[in-house]
Amino acid sequence: MHVRIYKFALWAGLSAIAAGCTAPGPLQVSSPNGELTVVLTLQEGTPHYRIELSGRPLLAPSRLGFSFKNAAALRENLEIAASSSSSFDETWEQPWGEVRHIRNHYNQLRVELKETQQPGRRLDIVFRAFDDGVGFRYEIPEQENLNDFEIMDEHTEFALTGAHRSWWIPAYGIERYEYLYRETPADQIEVVHTPLTMETKDGIFLSIHEAALADYAAMTLKNTGGNVLEADLVPWLDGSKVKGSSPLKTPWRTIQVARKPGDLITSYLILNLNEPNRLADVSWIEPGKYVGIWWGMHLGVYSWASGEKHGATTARTKKYIDFAAENGFAGVLVEGWNEGWDGDWMVNGHKFKFSTPYPDYDIEELSRYAAEKGVRLIGHHETSFGIDNYESQLDEAFAFAQRLGINRIKTGYVGNRVKPKQWQHGQYMVRHYRKVVEKAAEYGIMLNVHEPIKDTGIRRTYPNMMTREGGRGMEYSAWSGDGGNPPDHTVLLPFTRMLSGPFDFTPGIFDLLFEEAKPDNRVNSTLAKQLAYYVVIYSPMQMAADLIENYSGQPAFQFIRDVPCDWEETLVLHAQIGDFVTFARKDRNGPDWYIGSITDENARSLEAELAFLDAGTRYLAEIYADGPHGDWQGNPYDIEIRRELVDSSSKLTLRLAAGGGQAIRLRPATEQEIAELSK
Ligand code: NOJ
Repeated sequence: MHVRIYKFALWAGLSAIAAGCTAPGPLQVSSPNGELTVVLTLQEGTPHYRIELSGRPLLAPSRLGFSFKNAAALRENLEIAASSSSSFDETWEQPWGEVRHIRNHYNQLRVELKETQQPGRRLDIVFRAFDDGVGFRYEIPEQENLNDFEIMDEHTEFALTGAHRSWWIPAYGIERYEYLYRETPADQIEVVHTPLTMETKDGIFLSIHEAALADYAAMTLKNTGGNVLEADLVPWLDGSKVKGSSPLKTPWRTIQVARKPGDLITSYLILNLNEPNRLADVSWIEPGKYVGIWWGMHLGVYSWASGEKHGATTARTKKYIDFAAENGFAGVLVEGWNEGWDGDWMVNGHKFKFSTPYPDYDIEELSRYAAEKGVRLIGHHETSFGIDNYESQLDEAFAFAQRLGINRIKTGYVGNRVKPKQWQHGQYMVRHYRKVVEKAAEYGIMLNVHEPIKDTGIRRTYPNMMTREGGRGMEYSAWSGDGGNPPDHTVLLPFTRMLSGPFDFTPGIFDLLFEEAKPDNRVNSTLAKQLAYYVVIYSPMQMAADLIENYSGQPAFQFIRDVPCDWEETLVLHAQIGDFVTFARKDRNGPDWYIGSITDENARSLEAELAFLDAGTRYLAEIYADGPHGDWQGNPYDIEIRRELVDSSSKLTLRLAAGGGQAIRLRPATEQEIAELSK
């Protein structure tokens, strides 16, 4: 697969509007459709920006600037030295993704600020106004009086126009990003992670996040009083936020804006603000579904550690390889294959060896066997936050994997503070995560990162950064003391966590109650909802997470066999945050469409219009619906599988049980099927 870039118009209309002179009044830039406007003003030397939507305030004047260690702050006594504006419009192609073509269309305003007093330091702010939101970042130009520095605070504000309805997870928690989303008015937000999703009283949907986070601290948002949120950068151990030198570009601060919640989902602003692909050849990067020796450990049926219950044995792995080959899975993940798991692995990060298999795991033979069957082993590198230990083995570990034909690796960072107690989201770890992505690319390895840094769209620049966790995944239903993920969790994810990018949520649990292994836990959904997740929760590495024996004799498994994980197009048919969502996605490599629809704990019926289908083609809808008696609590397994002929003028009624869902494959019908079903 090669990335082809279509450029319709490049840097059209570059024009300086105030080059080389002092402030002529407010500077502003509007989105291509004219609806969104960002205005920059200086209030007594302090830069502020505000955003308007159709002439009405969307963000009130919000301050900008920095404070430094051992240097005066750069947030007052500023004047406008110059400004320039430009436009950009290109459509680029993703090597893989939820959609093939993405239009990157914006108007830009660059404002060059300068201190009015000595030492006359300079700071640029670049705003991009898109139809679906605004991005801006700071650029600290190379200059004598601001060379090496430590940022103590980035004073970027987001002054909301009211106490918007907000969906958020707390920052600085021990479980990193793995929290259930809370809904409160914005004035009850304390310190939260991004993406932060909000709805204004006027029914406008906002998501504040960041794009292109590199060699900088992650931004969390803290409430500084009322409805003003301020960037709160995750610190180093010594309290400084960012150690840098000029020239420096910060990540983009992003505000996505939509009139319908589904339009937040199909906004690709975050990707557009990332640098284009830096990898020359991406032909080796392939989305794919996988199975693995994994859920058994979470259920306590197998162990990661060596011994009687050891999951990663040669014999069991061969069974998984056979199963993958028979059912069209690209890979087999095997956890607990390497030395280091014995004892309390969560705190023994220094013990892991990434090229030393346990003796009962014959990795050479398994790689040979997998290759013979056309399947790949997926490597696993749990670090338990032993960052030095991992970095010292990176080259050796990736070379080892490469030699064995392992081209996908799942990494893991269980723990929340790195020795010596650096935060997981600070600049120290942002650097580490990036280093691993770059190193993996050198060795032709695709990554699935668990306990990751949040996604800010770097998959555009490094398309080997496939998927990640960074949210409460399925595993919580296996062991969490709080009862696991409630039915509304996955109708919140598409509007929150998923706005940042792909999620290795690990759907496809068929034995929902696992009464023998874990009588006190269960998965809180119906079976049909598990299928719908393959369409709703986008991931280019998508797992069929259950023990493979639980798929045997299950007609519903056919949907998991069929569903792809690389899409040409993505549509959101229904969307209500925390209540329900329906996606329609088109297979990137064929004519089929797939629908996934899920609901919270309430049963409901939704009408899906199939106008997106090719006109004039008759499709066979293979429908996997909750059965008439289905409901997540009392009857989660009730599923009805049926076939219907449809076309682009059809409407399907999606009947979703409480805690349920529906999955549909739509493929062009054969003549014979048309004849048969028209009877
Ligand atoms: C947590 C990860 O999310 C999970 O997938 C993995 O099995 C364990 N860590 C062990 O690495």
